[in-house]
Amino acid sequence: MITTNRKKRYNKLIVGFGLIIGLLIVVTPLYAEDFTRKGADSCLKCHDEESDFPVLSIFKTKHASQVDPESPFASAQCESCHGAGKDHERSQKKGKDDKPMLTFGKTSNIPASQQNKVCLGCHQNHGRTGWTGSVHEEEDVACASCHQVHVERDRVFNAQAQQQVCFGCHATTRAESHRASAHPLRFGQMSCSDCHNPHDSNNDSLLNRSNINDTCYTCHAEKRGPFLWEHAPVAEDCTICHNPHGSNHQAMLKQRPPLLCQQCHSPSGHPSTAYTSENASGNFQSRFVLGRSCSNCHSQVHGSNHPSGATISR
Ligand code: HEC
Ligand code: HEC
Ligand code: HEC
Ligand code: HEC
Ligand code: HEC
Ligand code: HEC
Ligand code: HEC
Ligand code: HEC
Ligand code: HEC
Ligand code: HEC
Repeated sequence: MITTNRKKRYNKLIVGFGLIIGLLIVVTPLYAEDFTRKGADSCLKCHDEESDFPVLSIFKTKHASQVDPESPFASAQCESCHGAGKDHERSQKKGKDDKPMLTFGKTSNIPASQQNKVCLGCHQNHGRTGWTGSVHEEEDVACASCHQVHVERDRVFNAQAQQQVCFGCHATTRAESHRASAHPLRFGQMSCSDCHNPHDSNNDSLLNRSNINDTCYTCHAEKRGPFLWEHAPVAEDCTICHNPHGSNHQAMLKQRPPLLCQQCHSPSGHPSTAYTSENASGNFQSRFVLGRSCSNCHSQVHGSNHPSGATISR
């Protein structure tokens, strides 16, 4: 009795195992079929430097690292980004074009959010934590609208080339940055990412720092003070008076003095209209409105440390 029971149990076990192994035999190839057997080597039989889209330069990028266990080429290789490729390989071999791979950028065959999911699959934890909820995410901008992964050096890491990427969508900023007075962006001595983090939703206007002034202070530390005599609007927001991208007035001012100053300071009391007739010294010029106007005298517009600098004139 005992032996037959054992036998039965053994039989059950064997049948059980058999079923599991059988399932594995059936399922594994079904699953594995999606991916090519030789990874990049399969793809490179057809896609190389001669193709319409040359792919090989990706091997000169960090994505091709074999030693970094998180890199695409340490796992599914091309298929980590473009999706499983077995069907595509087969259909292309038959001369058909009915099994497209996932594609990226403007001509992509999938929505931006889905493209980005592929990239974020690896990059979520690499400082991309602010991406979700950022303006660019909400506006369905794709990672590949800014990044090129099939080139040795992605444009965004070059100050001048990066701007061209941004200008593709931000024409107003391009116009501003070409005005007479501007940050030296167009000479490649600065880049948009000196002030902006295009990935991050944590700060207003995708700024690198928590507010405008802190962003400016990273390079213009002397404007931070503390000053014995502060000028209230300066500590509040540099962009009250300056356009950070450029302007046609000197020092990137939004308006020229006296108008700039008279947004807040009453024109009465201080003469701020030009003399209409020759003055005592035979001069048509008014130092209140011409030249540097108010700054002729109030030269320490950002604040003064002089004991008698209450009127920020020294
Ligand atoms: C038998 C040849 C062949 C193989 C193998 C092959 N492709 Fe293609 N692939 C083509 C052809 C032909 C096209 C369409 C013409 C073109 O744009 O290059 C294409 C198109 C593509 C496209 C553009 C979108 C599309 O599908 O139309 C991508 C991306 C792509 N292949 C990636 C891959 C990847 C990744 C692999 C390896 C997993 C691979 N291919 C293997 C021949 C091949
Ligand atoms: C399989 C994981 C994986 C996927 C998928 C992936 N990346 Fe990466 N990526 C990495 C690793 C690993 C690095 C190198 C380490 C680092 O800089 O974080 C890297 C680096 C980068 C860099 C920096 C390159 C440099 O020269 O400093 C950029 C930009 C980038 N990836 C963009 C993308 C974009 C865009 C996508 C989607 C089209 C993408 N990645 C998909 C793993 C991945
Ligand atoms: C609006 C343009 C833009 C978009 C969209 C964008 N990036 Fe970037 N990315 C940049 C710029 C510019 C830099 C270079 C920043 C710098 O100079 O440090 C960069 C740097 C990177 C880097 C390398 C430096 C780092 O911070 O680790 C990675 C990785 C990266 N981006 C991944 C992504 C991924 C993933 C996405 C999509 C979820 C994405 N980017 C979307 C513009 C963009
Ligand atoms: C890190 C993700 C990533 C990896 C890995 C990757 N690609 Fe790409 N591939 C892209 C992106 C993004 C584009 C869009 C163009 C660009 O940004 O450079 C692209 C474009 C392409 C195109 C042109 C598709 C079109 O829209 O016409 C082909 C073909 C292609 N890749 C093939 C390959 C092959 C073959 C490999 C492996 C050797 C590979 N890719 C590895 C992300 C990747
Ligand atoms: C010197 C720092 C700085 C640089 C460099 C810079 N920005 Fe800005 N940007 C700002 C500030 C500050 C704001 C917020 C302005 C405000 O709120 O009035 C801003 C706002 C923006 C806005 C929102 C719309 C607007 O104009 O207010 C866009 C778009 C923008 N920047 C794009 C760019 C691009 C593209 C580049 C590179 C060509 C760039 N910025 C370079 C500081 C900078
Ligand atoms: C594919 C198009 C596209 C590209 C490329 C692009 N942006 Fe944008 N960006 C947008 C859209 C759409 C908005 C939201 C509407 C607007 O403010 O113009 C936006 C908004 C912004 C804002 C304003 C954020 C706010 O809170 O008001 C800044 C700053 C900005 N982008 C910077 C950049 C920088 C820097 C680059 C280049 C590294 C860049 N963008 C590249 C499409 C793009
Ligand atoms: C990454 C460094 C950097 C940051 C951040 C920065 N600036 Fe500048 N700024 C410069 C450089 C470089 C110059 C050019 C100096 C020169 O030409 O001698 C400059 C010049 C200026 C000028 C004088 C322009 C002229 O024509 O005389 C003003 C005004 C100015 N910046 C305002 C700002 C404001 C406002 C911010 C914050 C929104 C800011 N800057 C952020 C680097 C920076
Ligand atoms: C109340 C208006 C006003 C505010 C607010 C303001 N500025 Fe200015 N800024 C000016 C004027 C006016 C000039 C031209 C001064 C001159 O003609 O000597 C100037 C010139 C500059 C210059 C070039 C000359 C110099 O002094 O180095 C820089 C840089 C600058 N500002 C940075 C800043 C920064 C950074 C902030 C914010 C912390 C800021 N400004 C806030 C009015 C302002
Ligand atoms: C956004 C508003 C604003 C702008 C623009 C502005 N100011 Fe002021 N200014 C103030 C405020 C607020 C005070 C502090 C007034 C107080 O404490 O009674 C002040 C104080 C002053 C003082 C010292 C006055 C006193 O009674 O202590 C002078 C001088 C002055 N500003 C000159 C200027 C000049 C010159 C400009 C143009 C380059 C200018 N301001 C632009 C808001 C502004
Ligand atoms: C010729 C030099 C000079 C010019 C130009 C000048 N100021 Fe003054 N400003 C002064 C002097 C000196 C004082 C101090 C007057 C006092 O203590 O009675 C002063 C005081 C002020 C004060 C403090 C409050 C007040 O009215 O006494 C403000 C605000 C002010 N000026 C704003 C301006 C503005 C705005 C302009 C440009 C339209 C300007 N100033 C042009 C010399 C000048």
